[in-house]
Amino acid sequence: MNDEPLSITRLVADHVEAYRALMLEAYELAADAFTSTAEERRAEPMSWWLKRIASPSGLNVAFGAVDRQAGGRLVGTVGLEFSAKPKTRHSALVLGMYVTPAARGRGLAAQLMQAAVAEARSRPGLRSLTLTATEGNEAAIGLYRSIGFVAWGVEPEAILTPSGFKGKVFMNMDLTGTMPERLPPAAPQTIR
Ligand SMILES: CC(C)(COP(=O)(O)OP(=O)(O)OC[C@H]1O[C@@H](n2cnc3c(N)ncnc32)[C@H](O)[C@@H]1OP(=O)(O)O)[C@@H](O)C(=O)NCCC(=O)NCCS
Repeated sequence: MNDEPLSITRLVADHVEAYRALMLEAYELAADAFTSTAEERRAEPMSWWLKRIASPSGLNVAFGAVDRQAGGRLVGTVGLEFSAKPKTRHSALVLGMYVTPAARGRGLAAQLMQAAVAEARSRPGLRSLTLTATEGNEAAIGLYRSIGFVAWGVEPEAILTPSGFKGKVFMNMDLTGTMPERLPPAAPQTIR
């Protein structure tokens, strides 16, 4: 049995209410980090949240960090969205990465990302992971770089946040070992 107070688990239907509460906290407390607002997400039915963490098709999965010492409270999460389309099903999207402030700096986001990468690697034909992070979100961009993501471009003024227009940094993680040959020669390492 795993005696670690904090553990990473694959989210199932029973987690849906805790997942919704945690993500609504995320959209409120880290508004600049996300493309959707808390108001938009609060209006989604429970079926939307359920589909987001454990869709019957298997195209959406999510992982959670659970704190046993806090009665099994969900303190972090990350989601993966796979594609069924023949032209895009070789790539999956990482979304909804969040760790509640009191649980940060203990490696939980890194463990969540490792679980997501392991899931992606287990899917036949999956070649890369993609995501976007808001320009200036040093914690998120540092996290993704530490896992092996490479930033390849920025969409200027991609979102209007409470603190003004912000760019979105596009990042990609190669699962095949051949991406360096396919990336532009000078993939921007200085993107913030
Ligand atoms: C980004 C976030 C998920 C990191 O969670 P965390 O559990 O504190 O991260 P970890 O402790 O697992 O850190 C893993 C790595 O991420 C990077 N990192 C984490 N916090 C960082 C910070 N404040 N500054 C720079 N790099 C940071 C580091 O590379 C770190 O590795 P290290 O500790 O060996 O240096 C968390 O800060 C968060 O939820 N932020 C608000 C929401 C958000 O920005 N989500 C991302 C949307 S794209």
